[in-house]
Amino acid sequence: MSFAPVVDWRPAAAVPAPPAIGALPLPVVGGDLTVPLVTGEQVGYVNLDYAASAPCLRAVLDAVTTLLPWYSSVHRGAGFASTVTTELYAAARREVGDFVGARAEDTVVFTRNTTDALNLLAAALPEDTTVVTFASEHHANQLPWRRGRSIVLPVPASADEAIARADDALRGVSSRHGLLAVTGASNVTGELWPLSELAAVAHRRGARVAVDAAQLAPHRAIDLDALGADYLALSGHKLYAPFGGGVLVGRGDWLDAGRPYLAGGGAVRRVTLDGVEWASGAPRHEAGTPNVVGAVSLAAACRALGEIGMSAVAAHEATLLDRVTRGLRAVPGVEQLAMWGPASPRIGVVTFNVRGFHPGVVAAALSAEHGIGVRDGSFCAHPLMSALAGAHAPEVSGGAAVPGAVRVSFGVGTSMADVDRFLGALTDLVARGPRWRYRVDGGRHVPEPDPRPRPALAGLLAGGTTGAVHGLLASDLAPCQALA
Ligand SMILES: Cc1ncc(COP(=O)(O)O)c(C=O)c1O
Repeated sequence: MSFAPVVDWRPAAAVPAPPAIGALPLPVVGGDLTVPLVTGEQVGYVNLDYAASAPCLRAVLDAVTTLLPWYSSVHRGAGFASTVTTELYAAARREVGDFVGARAEDTVVFTRNTTDALNLLAAALPEDTTVVTFASEHHANQLPWRRGRSIVLPVPASADEAIARADDALRGVSSRHGLLAVTGASNVTGELWPLSELAAVAHRRGARVAVDAAQLAPHRAIDLDALGADYLALSGHKLYAPFGGGVLVGRGDWLDAGRPYLAGGGAVRRVTLDGVEWASGAPRHEAGTPNVVGAVSLAAACRALGEIGMSAVAAHEATLLDRVTRGLRAVPGVEQLAMWGPASPRIGVVTFNVRGFHPGVVAAALSAEHGIGVRDGSFCAHPLMSALAGAHAPEVSGGAAVPGAVRVSFGVGTSMADVDRFLGALTDLVARGPRWRYRVDGGRHVPEPDPRPRPALAGLLAGGTTGAVHGLLASDLAPCQALA
């Protein structure tokens, strides 16, 4: 089987690519990766899966490389390198807080990721708290709240309806404390939520607001103080710092009164045989040796994005988004998913289905036949996907049928050429159909056979350099395979 990997494609009205904005796209690690196709060719990799995990910014890798010779134990180490590492960790906390506009009195707790941060907050809520959230949230912003008292509102038909529904629900809350937990930008449709208005409504009803900023933070400036939000969670790996760091930022009173998230060293002032005096502030919830590399790399990402300016980031992504959405409209059978219509403001996340094609086949063929990385599935937002994509081919996930779709997502490392490669490949795929066979393995579509040689990676990829390792990867997949 042999074919040209990419058909010549021009956007609908042969629109020339707009000029690059300032220094964007920014250099990312792996931006020059070459990947094999099932047909044997090698092509430059196009990564359009930023919403799941963004590539590492070059500036972030530089920061980590600079840190590592100095890396040492934090807090109690008496050595000079420990002093430097401890200061770096403290500086990272300030820098990440500043990046999201934290108030002076806010606590910045380093976590593993957004899921961890939201679970931490859920565990620290005053006992008599009702959490109001929407069915459209990522599972990370739904499931932690279900462990306590919670109200799940249906997917709203508009931003205005979201505000009205939140207002209604919070008015009816009879418990002493209320919390509205809402995303800043949908990981499925990219649509931006009316955060200021929601915060105003919540505060009017005596409740607090927690923002899941996993998707918002890489794309928009955030000012927690100006927004009036009380808590915010984000993940380093979506913010160009894939070293295992995340953060929960917000009001210290509940965090100081709540049960320490982990019990152990570092979270205490004094331990006796039958008692513990717990620390307050961030240390209360950071027991154990912290992930200094994760924290410092996250701060480096914040610095790099701050230097480029989040308005430049947003402008860059707006031109890409315009090209993607227009291009998709020109491909026959493509239907883009949105909660609130095509004109609602959004970040660089676009999800779609193609009539007559299983989303898994579209994603697998874009990778295997064109070297383009996108994502398919239900994006850990099953209730939202059921509401949006119910009419499309079901994807079997965890034993239950959940509608699936294809998602492309991009950011500061994405170029117009990347977008055009994707649109060309999709046009080709839809016009001629897949030119390889695909089978379902562990809930995912994979090429059959998959002759793509795996990179040697200096022995890191144990098991060799053929497609034979695939079964291992597939069996490792959780039912909710598309974590983003
Ligand atoms: C909106 C949203 N919230 C939360 C999460 C969970 O993030 P993490 O997997 O980094 O904990 C994601 C991840 O995809 C997300 O997109």
